[in-house]
Amino acid sequence: MSISFFKCVMSSKLKLFILTSLAIPIVISSSNLSLDTPYSNITNNDRAVENFKGNRPLRGTKRQSSLKKQNRLLSLFTIVKFDNEPCYSSSGDSGICMTSTECYQHRGVPIGSCANSYGVCCLSLSTCGQTIRENGTYFVNAGYPDGLNNTGTCQVTIHKLSPHICQFRLDFERFSIMGPEPVNHQCDNDQFIVSGSNPVPVICGLNTGSHMYVDAGTGTSPIILTMVTSGIFLKRNWKIKISQLPCDSITKADTGCLQYYTGVSGTLKSFNYESYSGLHLSNQDYTICLRTERNFCSVQYSACDDQSK
Ligand SMILES: *[C@@H]1O[C@H](CO)[C@@H](O)[C@H](O)[C@H]1NC(C)=O
Ligand SMILES: *[C@@H]1O[C@H](CO)[C@@H](O)[C@H](O)[C@H]1NC(C)=O
Ligand SMILES: *[C@@H]1O[C@H](CO)[C@@H](O)[C@H](O)[C@H]1NC(C)=O
Ligand SMILES: *[C@@H]1O[C@H](CO)[C@@H](O)[C@H](O)[C@H]1NC(C)=O
Repeated sequence: MSISFFKCVMSSKLKLFILTSLAIPIVISSSNLSLDTPYSNITNNDRAVENFKGNRPLRGTKRQSSLKKQNRLLSLFTIVKFDNEPCYSSSGDSGICMTSTECYQHRGVPIGSCANSYGVCCLSLSTCGQTIRENGTYFVNAGYPDGLNNTGTCQVTIHKLSPHICQFRLDFERFSIMGPEPVNHQCDNDQFIVSGSNPVPVICGLNTGSHMYVDAGTGTSPIILTMVTSGIFLKRNWKIKISQLPCDSITKADTGCLQYYTGVSGTLKSFNYESYSGLHLSNQDYTICLRTERNFCSVQYSACDDQSK
């Protein structure tokens, strides 16, 4: 099996840094190098993929059967305890498994059941003016799931849920605001601003599917996410998942990485990358990192064709 990492070459300003701090050095090769994947060798573990998989939420039947096993043990006792693990609705929204009372207290919406029906899968949505202290909460536009035809400023404040949180991961599950002006490509109309952390470039336009890692800092001061909408009437919408990553998390990005890619292949895009009409945003200076996967020692990049999304 051969693998490759792909990079869309569309941006002169996009800086790509490959981490050299990891135990397995990466060689960036400009040739068409491809590698075999000796996946069976599990002794050489930089960051064990097995562990990483183990930490991932179990879905569907696997999860059910493991819970059933747990329940057989638990049935001897009257107290049912379950972890606040991520869970999913049938439509793919992710929530956190908790009791229905807890869900209500977190201003959440139950989207299904979990923990073998002892808990509800709780989706928590926050919008303008609210404060977030939980893991896996979504920042959505006012009027969600409808678009927002409005101008103004919409902010949420994120507090660490514990002192052991080092990073926030922002997943732009929906992100459609006005793009940059056409001359200098500045985000003059709409802007997404992250404040209170390490510097994060201001972005705008279409960024659905993209992500950012934001440093949570060492103190207790919060991070503020601001969506500024101005200019002409336009339906904007956003749904940003905010995950709180503990300092010892295996999914945490290395320091200084605004974007962090894992896995053996993928696509890198600059913000507001869109075939045909996407304009490269100005004032973007940030780092994209790729995690060295176990048993891999080089990366192959190739340009995406212009039509691809
Ligand atoms: C790599 O490219 C060289 C020339 O550019 C070619 O001769 C060689 O066959 C290629 N190797 C593979 C594995 O595609
Ligand atoms: C895994 O790779 C290491 C170094 O490449 C080698 O010494 C070891 O024998 C391999 N283990 C297996 C089970 O193949
Ligand atoms: C936004 O609202 C204004 C007036 O409230 C209306 O004239 C305009 O057509 C709306 N635009 C969209 C895209 O819905
Ligand atoms: C928050 O959720 C993410 C992803 O679901 C998980 O990796 C992380 O460990 C969670 N954080 C805490 C503090 O539980």
